[in-house]
Amino acid sequence: MLTKKIIIANWKMNLSLAETVGLTKKFKEKFAGFNQGEVVICPANLALSQAAKILKGSQLKLGAQNVFWEDKGMYTGEISADMLVEAGCQYVIIGHSERRKYLFENYEMIHKKVRAVLETAKLTPIVCIGETIEEKESDRRDFVLVEQLQQALSGIDVFGNQQIIVAYEPVWAIGTGTAIEPSEAEYAHKIIRLALNDMFGMRIISQNFKIIYGGSINSKNVKKFAALENMDGLLVGGVGLKVDDFSKVVKSIINLPAGRPVKN
Ligand code: PGA
Repeated sequence: MLTKKIIIANWKMNLSLAETVGLTKKFKEKFAGFNQGEVVICPANLALSQAAKILKGSQLKLGAQNVFWEDKGMYTGEISADMLVEAGCQYVIIGHSERRKYLFENYEMIHKKVRAVLETAKLTPIVCIGETIEEKESDRRDFVLVEQLQQALSGIDVFGNQQIIVAYEPVWAIGTGTAIEPSEAEYAHKIIRLALNDMFGMRIISQNFKIIYGGSINSKNVKKFAALENMDGLLVGGVGLKVDDFSKVVKSIINLPAGRPVKN
């Protein structure tokens, strides 16, 4: 068995409702008949239900950009995991560096979100981790990655075929147009895989986890990432707003002859 590669487009706060509807329709057309890997779009909450209706009958999946950890109550402005499921989501991004930076999301909040999402058993969390430029320049990257993983996932039980995606996104590479060197991404992914192996054991990691990369991927530089051994897919921002370029990115990753073998 081979792991299915996954490509996730985070549309962030870039599109109005009408624009989201338009782009979702274009994606549906572009990916008609596509069935090899997994492609996920993550529009703003406002547009989730409409996007879900458009995606009916297509292989494309829907994800949200954030979630709250309680299931209901007096939490003004928040949205629960069950509500996201009701809106048609199968994925949700947790702990994106933009939320850590602008909304002051901390380790505890991220951990609670992961737990709440796994409790629904219907949503796959996409947990974002990654070092800042200061952490990179002071040679603290490996420590930071392990720390972020432990804070997000320690004490979490993974059952059955529940999936967890860890997205390695060096903060300094997001939205800058400069991706990390592929060899550096491979190295970081190895560190992540080793840390996860320590926490959950190798069998769970090969069956239930995916490790993907995010940060300034485009239709040109993607080819260098496609062959990396420890990379199960991509989380993209900017290129995910351009359907033709995005489809080139997907093709570079998914048309690979072989994925990573899953050990039983
Ligand atoms: P980018 O964004 O592809 O525009 O760098 C990536 C992300 O924020 O996940």
